[in-house]
Amino acid sequence: MKILVGKNYDRVSEMTANIIATKVKEKPDAVLGLATGGTPKGVYKRLIAMYNDKKIDFSKVKTFNLDEYYGLSSNHPQSYAYYMKTNFFDYINIKEENAHIPDGLAQDIDEECHRYEQAIKDCGGIDLQLLGIGHNGHIGFNEPDDALHTSTHLVNLHEKTISANSRFFGKDEEVPRQAITMGIGSIFGADEIVLIASGEDKAEIIAKMINGQLSSKLPASMLQIHKSLTIIIDEPIQKHL
Ligand code: GLP
Repeated sequence: MKILVGKNYDRVSEMTANIIATKVKEKPDAVLGLATGGTPKGVYKRLIAMYNDKKIDFSKVKTFNLDEYYGLSSNHPQSYAYYMKTNFFDYINIKEENAHIPDGLAQDIDEECHRYEQAIKDCGGIDLQLLGIGHNGHIGFNEPDDALHTSTHLVNLHEKTISANSRFFGKDEEVPRQAITMGIGSIFGADEIVLIASGEDKAEIIAKMINGQLSSKLPASMLQIHKSLTIIIDEPIQKHL
């Protein structure tokens, strides 16, 4: 496990974008695992700027998003499909067929989860997985539980997650209660993982994730034993470690 510290959110975003850009330069057809939430927005902004400066080409890149709310269509303004379009995909030259996100309206959930997992395998697996972290230690939407799922599955969101995400919806009642998420095994299959966090409010969970025991009650702790994990945090978090 490698821990890198950036002065602030902007620096964390820049360092992360540079790692992704280097990967895409080395391997133009890289398979990237992508995350949503507030934290990665700065990374996407920087990657778009690099694309505009002709420093990165996404024409052969394939992407797999971690998760999607169950019950939201891809054009719902709070769906992760919409987030990815409006924060990243609409501004770069990625091919639509190469950008994968679980289908939040899938009729047959088991089939959709199996299809998604197979699509990752068919692309040869994820080269670099970008992750944020929830305040309760969730990654993707793998919530703390007695046991963790290996592959893509439907999950019931925790109250804490629902209320954290209500800021995007306006009201708690409008936040979907379920999501489709890649499992811990799907995430672990990535050759390289970069987890980013910024702001003092993430310090407690980052400290537990790094120093605590491996536990399904803190899904991100599992990453401690990944072969190539880089955690990029800012100084406000570092001060509390
Ligand atoms: C959501 C996403 C996670 C993300 C988390 C933290 O729950 N499913 O992938 O890491 O939010 O988001 P934020 O970066 O806004 O704190």
